[in-house]
Amino acid sequence: MKKLWTGFSDRRSFLKSAGIFCALAALHALPPDLQAAPRLSGKMMIVYFSMPETDRAGNMTKEEENSTVVVDGKVLGNTQYVALLIQNHTGADIFRLETVMPYMTKHKQLVDYAKREQRNNARPALKAMPDLDAYDIVFLGYPNWWSDMPMPLYTFLEAADLSGKTIIPFNTHGGSRFSKTISTIARLQPRAAVVRDGYTVSRSEMESCAEDVPAWLRRLGMAIR
Ligand SMILES: Cc1cc2nc3c(=O)[nH]c(=O)nc-3n(C[C@H](O)[C@H](O)[C@H](O)COP(=O)(O)O)c2cc1C
Repeated sequence: MKKLWTGFSDRRSFLKSAGIFCALAALHALPPDLQAAPRLSGKMMIVYFSMPETDRAGNMTKEEENSTVVVDGKVLGNTQYVALLIQNHTGADIFRLETVMPYMTKHKQLVDYAKREQRNNARPALKAMPDLDAYDIVFLGYPNWWSDMPMPLYTFLEAADLSGKTIIPFNTHGGSRFSKTISTIARLQPRAAVVRDGYTVSRSEMESCAEDVPAWLRRLGMAIR
């Protein structure tokens, strides 16, 4: 039988090298978020984007109601409300991502504009970036827009360096949950540990958040207030 040249002196050293090769290849092929173990204690910051479609508490259209939660007469975006609940339970610092060019609040215009931004792969400029140097954990919150993150999240994730930090995603949606956004976050921040068990809630179930958010934080293993 013809013997293939392998460069190995015997079968045992071939098998040993093949084993090491396979282990290295498997490690290299791991999704980035599996390469670092998430850390669930340390200094925490909540970074979020939210776009309530009105700031008037009364007389809302259906669309305005859908995208807001009113607390003590104050109008909050759905994602903003979840961000504030996380803050109440963890004591984390909080930072809202805002674009230089404000989005319109009229539903149809906003939806069409966001679609165009997505088609154009836009990176809307942010008013400011949070300084995350001192933080170990970043809760990252956003609404689902067109089965993806709003484009300002791409601006943020491409400008920030979250290496060595744990990212915990949360989002609000109208049915699409996270879509593929958690994988996208892991791809954009390959040196961060991204928690897969993020918190996602439908805009039609916002009243469940007050109970579900602390339950989720506990499930993650966080010490909460
Ligand atoms: C521009 C735009 C696009 C949206 N696209 C989706 C979508 O693809 N899938 C979905 O489930 N919800 C979608 N929604 C609904 C929002 O995700 C939902 O209303 C969310 O709770 C809004 O959060 P916010 O008030 O924090 O901005 C979209 C809303 C807007 C304004």
